[in-house]
Amino acid sequence: MAEGRSLSEVRALVGASHGITDLAHKLHFYDQWAPNYDQDVAALQYCAPRLAVDCLTQALPDPPHAALILDVACGTGLVAAELQARGFSQLHGVDGSPGMLDQARARGLYQCLSLCTLGQEPLPSAEGTFDAVLMVGALSDGQVPCSAIPELLRVTKSGGLVCMTTRTNPSNLRYKEALEATLDRLEQAGAWERLVARPVDRWELATSELEVGPGTSDSDGFISGIIYLYRKQAAAQAVGGRPGA
Ligand SMILES: C[S@@+](CC[C@H](N)C(=O)[O-])C[C@H]1O[C@@H](n2cnc3c(N)ncnc32)[C@H](O)[C@@H]1O
Repeated sequence: MAEGRSLSEVRALVGASHGITDLAHKLHFYDQWAPNYDQDVAALQYCAPRLAVDCLTQALPDPPHAALILDVACGTGLVAAELQARGFSQLHGVDGSPGMLDQARARGLYQCLSLCTLGQEPLPSAEGTFDAVLMVGALSDGQVPCSAIPELLRVTKSGGLVCMTTRTNPSNLRYKEALEATLDRLEQAGAWERLVARPVDRWELATSELEVGPGTSDSDGFISGIIYLYRKQAAAQAVGGRPGA
């Protein structure tokens, strides 16, 4: 953080953003934040992109490098950087913030980047396009609604993988419950099967003591999170509507 914000400044900024529950307002916040995002989340020791990519790549069949991967809510491209470090090169990304997409474009790792607001419009891809779809750091109040999850399934190939993350600290527990109800409903409908639900204690530094919450196992200032990995069933039927379609 040589030239950047102090940790307490980053905490104040990110903590305030967690309180934004209106999507348009949130995407505007990301537009403004985009140039400093990587440096700020590094200060918070945000490790979700690495952990999610580890989880996904352990389950992908060989050879991995030919896999076509969609990074949903790609932000500045931290997930793409992790994928590239493991030899993946067929990467597409979508995000609802033009400012974040500019940063992702500058990284030079995606073949295709599109502006798309999840929950309001369908993903700009045909059914069954991708070997794997990831969405990291975007499932929470004011960001991607649970109603967008069937879109991730739709664009995944039969037998392909979908990897998602969410925070599990007290302020996100209500969203996590709704998310898990959606994930379970799709599993009961035979659309996919759960391969992994991996809790992570040290997701990122909390922005305040309030965020950690009483009664959690945390003792070193980190909030917790969870990584889910699903395999789309071969005979998955279309489930849910296409938002905006
Ligand atoms: C915390 S950042 C995560 C970015 C990246 N995946 C990472 O882990 O670094 C959340 C991203 O989700 C995007 N986002 C939030 N809600 C969205 C929505 N409804 N549709 C599309 N993008 C959204 C934001 O613009 C932002 O780039």
